[in-house]
Amino acid sequence: MVSTHYPAHVRERQKTTEAALAAEGFEALVISSGKPFTYYSDDQDAPFKSTPHFAHWVPLAGPDHLLVVAVAKKPKLVRVAPEDYWYEQAPLGDPFWRNEYDFVEVGEAAKAWKSFSVTPRTAYVGEHVEAAKAAGFAAAAINPPKLLARLDWERAYKSAYEIACLGQATERAAKGHHAARKAFENGASELEIHHLYLEAVGCVERELPYESIVALDEKGATLHYQSKRPVKNGRTLLIDVGAPHLGYGSDITRTWTTTKADETFRELQCGVDALQQRLCALAKPGIPYLDLHVAAHREIADLLKTLGLTKLGGMEAVERGVTRPFFPHGVGHFLGIQVHDVGGRQTEPVGGTKAPPTQYPYLRTTRKVEERQVFTIEPGVYFVPMLLREPRSGPDRELFDWKTIDRLTPFGGVRIEDNVAVTKNGVQNLTRPHI
Ligand code: GLY
Ligand code: MN
Ligand code: MN
Repeated sequence: MVSTHYPAHVRERQKTTEAALAAEGFEALVISSGKPFTYYSDDQDAPFKSTPHFAHWVPLAGPDHLLVVAVAKKPKLVRVAPEDYWYEQAPLGDPFWRNEYDFVEVGEAAKAWKSFSVTPRTAYVGEHVEAAKAAGFAAAAINPPKLLARLDWERAYKSAYEIACLGQATERAAKGHHAARKAFENGASELEIHHLYLEAVGCVERELPYESIVALDEKGATLHYQSKRPVKNGRTLLIDVGAPHLGYGSDITRTWTTTKADETFRELQCGVDALQQRLCALAKPGIPYLDLHVAAHREIADLLKTLGLTKLGGMEAVERGVTRPFFPHGVGHFLGIQVHDVGGRQTEPVGGTKAPPTQYPYLRTTRKVEERQVFTIEPGVYFVPMLLREPRSGPDRELFDWKTIDRLTPFGGVRIEDNVAVTKNGVQNLTRPHI
């Protein structure tokens, strides 16, 4: 049960926040849940997303709430629940998290800002900067970069509660992925597959952790393809979509083929699926995340050679850049409140980032693998005409079998993506038990 882990999660937040405050010379912290984002020159808002630092504490949705954390005090949560006949203000009920807070409800945001006192050592985190100034926060205490960095740093180490949330988000997404596969095998269009996914998961589109990628055939080679074409009877499906749970989200990709797909492409699908699992087995505390990424390239080099797409395998192929046009993204990223969760390149609690090697600019994680991190492992092989143009006429063009590559291009690409939580000796794969 997710909720049984929650009190320990709040205790941990209290402890790590107290340490971060002390290190930066503060004694209290106010975090707001966020403001609606209104489109320019419009009266429509984007779907609301809580400030991640607020969501890290409590799964209370909606804007304007305030959380007040002070050293050695029970945290105070001020819920803003205005009377409203335009938008539903659902009653709170009795959520499992409420008793962990000194809980207050007010009818308007201005009252929330009067429900605590501000000292020169109270910090504020969030986007209500004007309200914070008006409430008396010192300019240097509003979103102090080093305090923010420390909070981000802690977000990389998931509590048992967070891992349980991500597990639930994964299990929920798996229901949608099963429905999507069945629909694809029955000839459904991208649009129909998307809707059947939502129905199986039981949520609406704006609740998804990110916009779904439902790509038939050649569209699988567009990494973040987002159209939903009505065309039916695809021969391959690349589907990358997650599900939400209490503010956390999963991020899962599967690629499926029918018997109408080219036999070599079907072998490629099986090969990527197998090498993805070998990469999962390789992940353990202490290894640099970059090693996983390079291992993915090496595995892909061997697979491409075995299938006759290239003539050079192993590290020699990797070093000559043979795999780069086929695998042009990073092998994964931290996962949590945000789908590309913060901190993947952070070098120390107070900030600093380590860039990836120049040949892998899209690698989002350059840290070491450590216990309690949650990340994706998502190797892929794609046939992207734009990326194949250069090697086709370059000095290494003889290393590729262009005839086979051109034959497979109409089938798009393969990506297999699981969500894993790092344990003492390896990883717990949150996805594979379900799909
Ligand atoms: N769904 C986006 C990604 O896999 O990073
Ligand atoms: Mn991902
Ligand atoms: Mn994904």
